[in-house]
Amino acid sequence: MKILEDISYKINDKKIFNNFTLNVADKGTTAIIGSNGKGKTTLLKIILRLLKINSGKVLSPNKMSYVPDGTEIFFGGITPQIYFDYLLDLENDEIAFKKRINKLQEQIEYPMEINDQKIANLSLGQRKMVMIVSALARETDLYILDEPFSGLDQKRQLLLSKTMSELSTNKPVLFTSHDNPKLWPKNTKIVEI
Ligand SMILES: Nc1ncnc2c1ncn2[C@@H]1O[C@H](COP(=O)(O)OP(=O)(O)OP(=O)(O)O)[C@@H](O)[C@H]1O
Ligand SMILES: [Mg+2]
Repeated sequence: MKILEDISYKINDKKIFNNFTLNVADKGTTAIIGSNGKGKTTLLKIILRLLKINSGKVLSPNKMSYVPDGTEIFFGGITPQIYFDYLLDLENDEIAFKKRINKLQEQIEYPMEINDQKIANLSLGQRKMVMIVSALARETDLYILDEPFSGLDQKRQLLLSKTMSELSTNKPVLFTSHDNPKLWPKNTKIVEI
């Protein structure tokens, strides 16, 4: 699936991307790799249409799910439970959504005791799990995860990898990662920027 075609993007006259084209595996996982500051997070935000490009085409689907890298805190004042309930209200099929939330919580061994704490007071890994469950429970046409393994313990890294692999049998899953490629789902397509 072609997601970006010949895009160029500058920040204060500094060229971050120059005529860059991105294809992701239709079904399967694709990893974006590159050193710190190379533009991985920027690339994901371009795909999500959160940033305006200077030229080229963004061809990503309208329905996308996004797991941010966890350094920015969204909805810090509320608890994960309130956040999940709010997302539930937005869904047409509440029962199916709730089932997917429960399944994901089981798959990554989500610590249920964090559900009544403020999101701002959670650890990086705990926040990450809230974002993973909430984003992957939505049914969309492209799943995007920024550094999904960072902050998770070893066991949960492997559980997440399995979950991503399962998800990607139906829909494309795109992620960035610094971590050990051994953690990634098998047959991940690698794109170096
Ligand atoms: N809002 C901004 N204003 C100015 N420069 C920015 C802004 N956002 C990003 N940059 C610059 O763009 C470049 C790419 O940043 P980006 O966050 O995409 O890198 P990254 O590959 O995700 O890095 P990391 O591996 O550390 O997560 C960096 O040089 C960064 O300093
Ligand atoms: Mg980044």
